Amino acid sequence: AHLWRGVIREYADRLPTLAGSPVVTLHEGGTPLIPAENLSELVGANVLVKYEGLNPTGSFKDRGMTTAISHAKGRGAKAVICASTGNTSASAAAYATKAGMSCVVLVPEGKIAMGKLSQAIAHGATLVQVDGNFDACLTVARKLAETHPVELVNSVNPARIEGQKTAAFEVVDALGDAPDIHILPVGNAGNITAYWRGYTEYATDAPDLPAVATRTPQMWGFQAAGAAPIVLGHPVDEPDTIATAIRIGNPASWRQAETARDESGGRIESVTDEQILAAHRLLSSTEGIFVEPGSAASIAGLIQASERGEVPVDATIVCTVTGHGLKDPQWALRLADGTEVEPVRVAAEARAVAEVLGLEG
Ligand code: F0G
Repeated sequence: AHLWRGVIREYADRLPTLAGSPVVTLHEGGTPLIPAENLSELVGANVLVKYEGLNPTGSFKDRGMTTAISHAKGRGAKAVICASTGNTSASAAAYATKAGMSCVVLVPEGKIAMGKLSQAIAHGATLVQVDGNFDACLTVARKLAETHPVELVNSVNPARIEGQKTAAFEVVDALGDAPDIHILPVGNAGNITAYWRGYTEYATDAPDLPAVATRTPQMWGFQAAGAAPIVLGHPVDEPDTIATAIRIGNPASWRQAETARDESGGRIESVTDEQILAAHRLLSSTEGIFVEPGSAASIAGLIQASERGEVPVDATIVCTVTGHGLKDPQWALRLADGTEVEPVRVAAEARAVAEVLGLEG
C-alpha cells in the first residue's frame, strides 16, 4: 500500500532547496480534488474543488509550514515567529511542536476565529494579541526576526512558497494536465504566487525533469471587497470583512500576485461579504463541502464571473478552498436573512419527534 508521506517526500525532486534538510511533517498534502456537479451545472463548466481544509491543521498553510519549519530546523533554529489572521499561527504552532521548537504568534486583536486561536494555544504557542491589524502584526514580526534569534515563517519566507507550490502539482497529477482556470482567495498573496510557480515549473522542462503539463492555467484571484488593495491599486489602511482570514490591507506578495495574474492572462477582482456568505452556503448545502468564509471567496468569484457571462463554456476550472469550515463555524448558524438558527426542542419520545417532523402517525 502507498502511504502518503507529506509534500517534502512526495515531491522531493521538485524541492531542491529542501535537499538534505531534516523533514518535519504531519503528512500534509494529498488533499482531494472533488468534482462539484451542482456548481458545474450552475456555471456551465467542469468545476472541481481542491479541498485544502483536509490538511492536518485544517488549512493549506501546512504545505508551506512543513517546508519552512524543516528548513528552520536544518539551520538550527530553536524558535519561530509569525503574524497571522489565524491559520498560519495554527499551522506554525503544530509544526513547531513536531520539531521541538518554540513558537510565537502575533494575531490581530479580536479578529481571529475561535477554532484557530484554540489550535495555537493547544499546540503551546506563545500567543500575543497585537493592538492593530494583520499588516501591523507582520511588520512587528519581521522586525523581531531581524533582531532576534527567531525564524520568520510567514510567506515572505521563501521556503513557504516552495511548499505551497505542491498543491498545483497535485492538481496536474490528478487531472493529467493543468486546468483552464485556477481560482483562489487572495489575502497576503503568497498562495496565488505559489500555485503560479508550481504550474509554471510543471509546464517547463528542467535539466533532469521533463515537463509534466502541456500548459498553464489562467490564475483568477479574489479579494474581499473591504480588503481589496490589489484590485484598488493601493493599500487599505483599515481592511474589513467577515472573512477574517483574508482581512489584509497591504499584501506582502502583492507584486508576485500581479505577475501571476498578468503572465497567466488571469484576473484579480473582489467579492462582497454577502457574495462570500452565499457561496459558503451553496458549497455546504449543495456540494457537501464545509469551508471557512475566506475560502468561499474563490467560489463567490466563480459565480460572479458566471453571472457576468465570463466563464468559458465547458472549461475545466479548479477552485481552491483553503480552510475547513470547523475553523470558524458560526457562519453556518446564520441564515440568509441574518437570523440565527435555533434548534427545535422536543421531548425524548418517538411520537413527539414524529409530530415535529410531520410524519404520519
Ligand atoms: N484562505 C485562508 C483560509 C487563509 O487563512 C488565508 C491566509 C488565505 C486564504 C489567503 O492566502 O495570504 O496566501 O493570499 N491566511 C494567512 C494567515 C494570512 O495568517 O493565516 P494568502
